[in-house]
Amino acid sequence: MSEPYVIKMPQLSDTMTEGVMVSWEKNIGDEVKRGDIVATVETDKAVMDVEVFRDGFLSGPIAPVDAVIAVTHAIGYLVDSQDDVVQGEAEQSAQPAAQATPAPASTPAPATGKEAVAPDAAPTSRPQGSKASPLARKLASQQGVDIDRISGSGPGGVVTASDIKTAPAPFEVAVPGDGRPMKSMEKAIAHAMAASISMPTFRVTSHIHLESLLGAAKSAGVSVTVAIARACGLAMLEHPKMNWCYQPDNKLIERGQADIGMAVAADDGGLVVPILRGCESRELSELNNDWKDLVARARSRHLNPEEFTGATFQISNMGMFDVSYFDAIATPGLAAILAISSNTDKGSAFTVTADHRVVNGADVAKFLQSLKTLIEQPADWIGPGASAIPEGDWDYDVVVIGGGPGGEDCARDLVAHKLKVAMINDSPFPGGECLWRGCIPSKAWRAAADRMRDRAEDAHLGVAGTSKARLIWKDLEAHRRKVLETRGEMALKTDKGVRIDYLQGFGQFVDPHTVTVNTDTNQDDPHTRATLPAGKAGKTVTFGCAVVATGAPPFVPPIPGAQEGVESGGVLTSDTVWALSAPPKKLAVIGAGAIGIEMAQIFQDFGSKVTLLEAQERILAEVEPEIAKALSGILDDEPRLDVHTSAAVNKISGAPGAMKLAYTDSDGKKRSLTVDYVIMATGKRPVLDGLNLESTGVASERSIINTDSRCRTSVPHIFAVGDVIGGLMLAHTAAQQGRVTAATILGENMRYDQDRDCGVIFSRPQAAFVGLSVEQAKAKGVDAVEVKVPMNIDAKAMINNETRGMIKIVADKATHRVVGVHFLADHADTLIGEAVMMVSAGMTLEQVGEAIHPHPTQTELFGDMARRLLSRLRRSKKKTRA
Ligand code: NAI
Repeated sequence: MSEPYVIKMPQLSDTMTEGVMVSWEKNIGDEVKRGDIVATVETDKAVMDVEVFRDGFLSGPIAPVDAVIAVTHAIGYLVDSQDDVVQGEAEQSAQPAAQATPAPASTPAPATGKEAVAPDAAPTSRPQGSKASPLARKLASQQGVDIDRISGSGPGGVVTASDIKTAPAPFEVAVPGDGRPMKSMEKAIAHAMAASISMPTFRVTSHIHLESLLGAAKSAGVSVTVAIARACGLAMLEHPKMNWCYQPDNKLIERGQADIGMAVAADDGGLVVPILRGCESRELSELNNDWKDLVARARSRHLNPEEFTGATFQISNMGMFDVSYFDAIATPGLAAILAISSNTDKGSAFTVTADHRVVNGADVAKFLQSLKTLIEQPADWIGPGASAIPEGDWDYDVVVIGGGPGGEDCARDLVAHKLKVAMINDSPFPGGECLWRGCIPSKAWRAAADRMRDRAEDAHLGVAGTSKARLIWKDLEAHRRKVLETRGEMALKTDKGVRIDYLQGFGQFVDPHTVTVNTDTNQDDPHTRATLPAGKAGKTVTFGCAVVATGAPPFVPPIPGAQEGVESGGVLTSDTVWALSAPPKKLAVIGAGAIGIEMAQIFQDFGSKVTLLEAQERILAEVEPEIAKALSGILDDEPRLDVHTSAAVNKISGAPGAMKLAYTDSDGKKRSLTVDYVIMATGKRPVLDGLNLESTGVASERSIINTDSRCRTSVPHIFAVGDVIGGLMLAHTAAQQGRVTAATILGENMRYDQDRDCGVIFSRPQAAFVGLSVEQAKAKGVDAVEVKVPMNIDAKAMINNETRGMIKIVADKATHRVVGVHFLADHADTLIGEAVMMVSAGMTLEQVGEAIHPHPTQTELFGDMARRLLSRLRRSKKKTRA
């Protein structure tokens, strides 16, 4: 046997480093001629054909569809003879996880050509949910065979002429009268019902109490039927099989989007079943609006065909007709149908009729259990429905402790609804860590560092004489302080203007409805963090609800000498770095999270020599792995910056200006380093001491307050938001949680959803994310795919010489919804805005691909990527069907 010829992932453009397998156009064992297209692959620009340049037989192991393969690596083989053909797919280590390619289609039985059929016979209509050959349809029409009742024996379950010929004759009873022809809707229903006989179904009933749902739906102003459909959609997220269906022969169609059909009586007496789409993901109010519109048009029979075809689940509600029990008929295309009877003392009988080829009894029982919990406890997903403020004569409706982004946004939303609110804050101005020691001051430094770094690019555009930028620290610091003070004053003025009572001091609970405001440790300088209060009580106020928004200070790990370093000022944290009198000449940064990376690069741009030490194997643990890895590679090439991962810091000693650091590197070698200062950027951890939370009964775990997605603590009238509840410790996260809390206190329906949250790390280029990575989406059961584009193919990036990095879109293969977008790109802080809208609105690739993006801007990349991924999905789906 001669050596097999390797079919390689071709390099179809200068910038292409890898390609995604989209489809195989030939099957293993097929004879292939020179010039044939054997596969399609997706490059960084488009989906393209892979052509072979010699004859042979396609042989495995072939790369599986969806695998990411580096250019010039093997995707398959050509061998000289059928006997040498190897079956199977290659093992894939590359992400995303390999998907199985479709098995080669079985060869259709050759037609004999002897079936007697009148040449001009009109074919019967196509069978529902399967396919039939034209000859079979003509024969069926001629012989009066109901084609929907026939299981096809052809490839993929196609009904063939011989299936029609061997079909048993329908049982008929002659009754007097000629009969009138059925109307098309009647005929369609009759066919679907007859076809249902071929389904092996069974029934499961559970009694569910509807009272709570009736009340919650009423106060939310939505229809009960829509609320039940939404509950079914939510239950299907846990039990997705209920939304699948069987397709002949031996296929399961796995569907993620719950498109629920619900029967409506038309004005002329007939039944119409409009479909409420996306019940698993869309908000109740949105579904309710759609339903109102669908029902109005269904009654007058003004629905478009796509509005009543393609349901993935059905509900038949006869609760209003006082029926104690009934069941419904599941038809092909569904795994199950739900019949709802009237509410009784025992609850209402919810009966599911289900296809046993898709689900078993336990699946349905578990689905009904989840549905029962959702329907009987609607407050968790419809909203509380009533204000959380208990009856009582309180000094304040709500007391918010902490005046950072979380506390302030919460307080402002509450006063906008005319509640009496006090905000206790231990500083003369609101703004918290974000304004005084975090986002805003670090971005002032970053802005100066950006100017200096960008000067290096001027020469590419022929601009000379600007490369000797010099930092005047005193001026930058004056500017920074001015920005903070101006913003602090603006915020306080606004808070007072909207009638928030600003109480300066440290809040400490006395009991579940009382707090004291200790003023004896008040901080007069807003630029520094207040210390813990002495036990002396100040002013005491009572409240209906309280919100804890006290943040989290930097965490200093127990490295020998670290705490002493913090006390001497040689070890700085994100609280104290602002007191530097000049950029250090030599700096060590411990921790390569957002703070560590940002600080390291800012000081590098200011001219410091920086060593960054990270304990874990990778930098930026919160960021998508490929993005973090690519940034790591970029940082390795930066001047004046050394990054060591897997490094263990053993000891810190010395005095400010001459600090010594002993560490073990990734090879286990002991090393030491002398620097002017050390910045400790090893995370933040809430400190609950001093709050006297024990007096309220609020539960916490390792100093993090436990909350649910509405920011409720274990005590119903006490809430917590921001860094103090753990998770993403970001200013916008805290602010959103503040708004969620205000809504919950007001009895409205709002939740914090971390899966739609986002972040920007102000490195160069910037790393940013919104939503989920492929890995995270898969862990949540979403069949996710991604598409990416390297920045070096973008016109704007080339013009500005900002070609490092990439953008990735992650989408749900089933629904085409964008579930995540990830960036390593200059200007990601503004580009991410569009991505945030995509993820938070659950936009589809079609919507992103059809939007008109302005040229020449980098937003065009979003449209390009969406269209490219759609093209890939279309082509691989077509191939799967063939
Ligand atoms: P972090 O938790 O994100 O990162 C800390 C890093 O230090 C981790 O990688 C950890 O492995 C490492 N580390 C811990 N102990 C270590 C040791 N003994 N030796 C070496 N490495 C060690 O925390 P970071 O960067 O301090 O930031 C605090 C919070 O502020 C985070 O939640 C971060 O996301 C947020 N933040 C966000 C920014 C942004 O979004 N632009 C900017 C700055 C902070």
